Amino acid sequence: MDLVVVGSGFYGLTIAERAATELGRKVVVIDRRPHIGGNAYSANDPETGIEVHQYGSHLFHTSNVPVWEYVNRFTAFTNYQHKVYTNHNGVVFPLPVNLGTINQFFGAAYSPTEARELIAGQAAEFDTKTAANLEEKAISLIGRPLYEAFIRDYTAKQWQTDPTELQAEIISRLPVRYNYDNRYFNDTFEGLPVDGYTAWLERMADHPNIEVRLDTDFFDESQAINKAATVGQVPVIYTGAIDRYFDYAEGELSWRTLDFEQEVVPVGDYQGTSVMNYADASAPFTRIHEFRHFHPERGHYPTDKTVIMREFSRFATRDDEPYYPVNTPQDRARLLAYRELQAGEPDVYFGGRLGTYQYLDMHMAIGSALSMFSNKLEPAFRARA
Ligand code: FDA
Repeated sequence: MDLVVVGSGFYGLTIAERAATELGRKVVVIDRRPHIGGNAYSANDPETGIEVHQYGSHLFHTSNVPVWEYVNRFTAFTNYQHKVYTNHNGVVFPLPVNLGTINQFFGAAYSPTEARELIAGQAAEFDTKTAANLEEKAISLIGRPLYEAFIRDYTAKQWQTDPTELQAEIISRLPVRYNYDNRYFNDTFEGLPVDGYTAWLERMADHPNIEVRLDTDFFDESQAINKAATVGQVPVIYTGAIDRYFDYAEGELSWRTLDFEQEVVPVGDYQGTSVMNYADASAPFTRIHEFRHFHPERGHYPTDKTVIMREFSRFATRDDEPYYPVNTPQDRARLLAYRELQAGEPDVYFGGRLGTYQYLDMHMAIGSALSMFSNKLEPAFRARA
């Protein structure tokens, strides 16, 4: 064994695949979950055969050509383009806020210039630079009417906190499009893996030099591969939580988590689209995912049943799955302290979403793993040889 990779998400699998294929190294990938793939894992619902993204909807998109070329070695992509709608006061509007949203909301037919002037006037209520909290900042970006309809209650549900008590810096911008384009992503490449996420992830690990051990926690000393037994013996790629690695010595980093409620509904189409946000406080969930709409090309999905998943958001405890970094000033100070501790572990490479305490889209996790491999790991192996 030449390399241990802790975590079989996109970051860990990219490193494992590169080390096995490019350097001929023997890699053991461990994951404490019973399945491969980290948060991108998906499984077919047993009753309907519909592919369900178990940790929330995962849309692949990138403008990074090397990443796009790399991922295409393992999967083909459909031409799916993501679009999101939101239910406010029982009326459905397109997102991100665009000319269609604005004209529907104000019952008008504004031109792009008229809409721009209207929103600029409404946004003048606060100055972005001096906004004291998230509410003021949001109003300074899109004006009070759109803020109160589409942002206020949704944000309060996401954070379980009134936006007047949230820091302004949580949002840097709120996109408003002064045309009718409601594609969610602007990237050059977008699509969903034709055979599903798990087939893609399994192909990355399908190499004679790669062994995957599931149900294996790096901190469980009853397992053959664990922190005490490996660090200092072989290089370790660690994609678990950075605070856990150091036994929370500098305090816990805070995360938001999500709860999902999955249901098979006896209709062929529940909401007519893949993701519907619920903007108002009256619905306790933030959105509903309906997975059949990710793959309209799949002819085998039933026409009389569909799978939906309601999403609820809250602060994570130590036992919850960490999803989104909260990133308070205290978190940032703790992260810096952990980075200093990292310097004392030269043979451990911290990466991925949990290992670096940052939200990473899939293409970012893969891109940063590819860079880490060529800038650090490959030279380190070559120097050892
Ligand atoms: P990831 O979390 O996937 O993998 C880490 C792995 O390490 C996990 O499998 C975990 O079990 C394992 N692990 C942790 N501690 C361990 C230990 N002690 N011992 C052993 N194993 C351990 N991206 C995108 O591009 N489009 C999208 O639409 C979305 N949507 C989305 C929705 C939600 C709700 C979330 C939370 C995230 C997304 N993402 C996304 C982001 C995407 O999930 C993310 O880019 C990848 O998960 C990053 O891969 P990593 O390998 O960094 O982490």
